[in-house]
Amino acid sequence: MPIDLEALQASDWYHDDMRQVGVDFADAAQVATYDARQRSGDAAAAALLAELGLKAGEVFADFGCGTGVLACQAALVGGEVHAIDISAQMLAATRQRAQALGATGVRTQQAGFLSFQLPASSVDCVTTQYALHHLNDFWKLVALQRIFAALKPGASFMLRDVVYSCPPSHLKETVDAWLRWMQEERGYSREENVTHVRDEHSTFTWVMEGLLERAGFQVQQARYARGVYATYLCRRPG
Ligand SMILES: C[S@@+](CC[C@H](N)C(=O)[O-])C[C@H]1O[C@@H](n2cnc3c(N)ncnc32)[C@H](O)[C@@H]1O
Repeated sequence: MPIDLEALQASDWYHDDMRQVGVDFADAAQVATYDARQRSGDAAAAALLAELGLKAGEVFADFGCGTGVLACQAALVGGEVHAIDISAQMLAATRQRAQALGATGVRTQQAGFLSFQLPASSVDCVTTQYALHHLNDFWKLVALQRIFAALKPGASFMLRDVVYSCPPSHLKETVDAWLRWMQEERGYSREENVTHVRDEHSTFTWVMEGLLERAGFQVQQARYARGVYATYLCRRPG
C-alpha cells in the first residue's frame, strides 16, 4: 500500500528539505571547487545516460543535480530536462554550464526530494547522484515514493550514493580507508569528509535495497565500490 503523499505533505511534521544538511552546497567556495574535486566528467555522464537508454524527446530529471553535468548531457541527447536542487548557487552553475555547452532544454527547479513538483507519471528517466544521503531513512522512503510517482510505468531510475556495503564489523577500516583515499585522490580535507559520515545520513546497502523495494522499484542491477559506494539501476514496473 503506497504512502498517501499528499496527506503526508500537509502534516505539520513534514520535513523541510530546503535546508542544507551536512556539507553546505549553498556555499560559493563548495560550488566553485566542486567539479575539480569530484572529477565529474561529461564523457562518464554521457556513457551513463546511454546505458540508461535516454532518447531524444524523452523527459529526464536529475535530483540534487549539483553543477548540472548529467542534466546538460541529457539535454545534449535531446531530452526535456528538469535539473532539481535546493541550492540556488548549484542551479546557477547548472545554467552557466548549459549555456557554455549550448545545451538547450534544461529547466532548473529550486526544490528538494520532498518538495519538487513534477506531474505524476510524466518522466521517462530519473537519476540522482550523491544527494539522497542528505535525508534520513524515513524521508528517503518518502523521497523514493515521490520519484516513483513521477516516473512513467516502465521508466528507469538510477540511484548512486555513498551506501555502505562492507560488513558492519569492517566499518572502521572501510571508512578510514575511504577518508584517506578522498584526501589523497580528491583533495577533500579529512574534516570535510568526516562530516559526511558523522552528520549526514548514508545508510547500509541492505537498508537502501529494502527502501527501493518498498517504494515499488525493481532493482535490476546493484554495483558496489570501495565498500562505500553503490549504484542501483532500477525500473518502475510497467
Ligand atoms: C554531493 S552534491 C552532488 C551533486 C551532483 N549530483 C553530482 O553527482 O556531482 C549534493 C547535491 O545535493 C543537493 N541537495 C542537498 N540536499 C538536498 C535535498 N534535500 N534535495 C535535493 N537536493 C539536495 C546539494 O545542494 C548538492 O548540490
